[in-house]
Amino acid sequence: MPQPDVMEKLVSLCKRRGFIFQSSEIYGGTGSVWDYGPLGVELKKNLKERWWNSMVRSRDDIEGLDAAILMHPRVWEASGHVGGFVDPLVDCRNCKKRFRADDSKIKGTPGTPDAQCPACGMKGTLSEARQFNLMFKTFMGPLEDSAAVVYLRPETAQGIYVNFLNVQQSTRQKVPFGIAQIGKAFRNEITPGNFIFRTREFEQMEMQFFVEPDSAPKWFEYWKAQRMEWHRALGLSENRLEFHEHTKEELAHYARGAFDVQFDFGGTLGFQEIEGVHNRGDFDLTQHQQFSGKKLEYFDQPANKRYLPHVIETSVGADRTTLAALVNAYREETVEGESEGRTVLGLHPSLAPIKVAVFPLMKKEGMPEMAQKIAADLRKDFRVDYDDGGAIGRRYRRQDEVGTPFCITVDVDSVAAGGPGDVTIRTRDDLSQVRVPVAQLKAAISDLLSRDETRATIEALSETWRRV
Ligand code: GAP
Repeated sequence: MPQPDVMEKLVSLCKRRGFIFQSSEIYGGTGSVWDYGPLGVELKKNLKERWWNSMVRSRDDIEGLDAAILMHPRVWEASGHVGGFVDPLVDCRNCKKRFRADDSKIKGTPGTPDAQCPACGMKGTLSEARQFNLMFKTFMGPLEDSAAVVYLRPETAQGIYVNFLNVQQSTRQKVPFGIAQIGKAFRNEITPGNFIFRTREFEQMEMQFFVEPDSAPKWFEYWKAQRMEWHRALGLSENRLEFHEHTKEELAHYARGAFDVQFDFGGTLGFQEIEGVHNRGDFDLTQHQQFSGKKLEYFDQPANKRYLPHVIETSVGADRTTLAALVNAYREETVEGESEGRTVLGLHPSLAPIKVAVFPLMKKEGMPEMAQKIAADLRKDFRVDYDDGGAIGRRYRRQDEVGTPFCITVDVDSVAAGGPGDVTIRTRDDLSQVRVPVAQLKAAISDLLSRDETRATIEALSETWRRV
């Protein structure tokens, strides 16, 4: 079934509620660069933390790294990016618009009198295709000459390859092992767009797994399965995820084999890559060994042999996966017995920017004081919002719209007999409510947040909390 196009509504929600703003908006904005607001930064941090936990902290065969964005310019010659990271471009001499040469809207061959501009419709105004490098250039030091050129990295992977032996020798890891990092990457994209889907500044979460050459196919299969499972565990719907295998023509210059994890963004975007899993062979280490003149071989002591390991890479965009999580989570629904419907971000609880909201039902009889105390206590462990403004229904809706999985309400009964008595926990997804003693709140919220979904579990759990 085709998925609905929710992008326009999401862009508006993200701005209104402080998830994502256009960069430098008061100056008219910067093309395809975005800033994460208070809720967006929490969401993306949660996503990155899930990745770091699953790749680094929960394993003993992957080490972390945080390499610099600026690297020696020879790195990008060795990696193939100076020569090969290019898109062919054509310009229209009439309307000054620029297109990728392979844009399907261009009729005829650019540079010939027959070719027609897809924007202004003029014939014969399109230039021949020129190669355009996607790397951003800048200068290091005070001289702005060609000897001082450095690049903003277009991928984080190279920082891992050049540190392969530093990490291996300092940690005494043995092949097979991996190195993981999260960091910014920059590409001067010709056709950016679709909100944070394709931007010029973005974050990657990349892991390079170094293996004995003969075992590369086995590890390739292993990482494909692991990575697909990770996306499922984020809550991305099963029917919106699929693999796409690269054909020979699609393969990047470094890859022997590549599978994309694709997500169905709905609307005109449809299924698109969110992660690449690549079998890079020994391309990168061979290149760096040659360009740097330094041996990068691994010494396998038990087998008494030296070799260049092969690399299986997993490369996922933090921003693009954040967008997938938002698209996947967005829903509008009617509420039984209410005239107004509600907008819900059904985010996985671990991704939700705010974990719990605490409300006093009314601003009297000690309810705000008790609610504030509960919020302050819970804040030691969770991101908590306190809200005493407006009707309770409106407050619930505001939290639903930003994906808060649980709301706690302090009411008249909570403060009766001098309180603190029971409070209500209400779930975002099925609107079920349960009374929990204040003393059990922290345990109850921890319990709920550790689960994959918020539906229908709460009733069964409430008895356990009461007995504690
Ligand atoms: N080291 C391999 C590599 O960089 P890639 O397929 O070019 O591979 C990997 O990029 C991931 O990075 C993509 O699947 C996507 O999620 C993200 N990505 C790439 N270009 C992007 C852009 N311009 N904006 C946002 N995310 C991008």
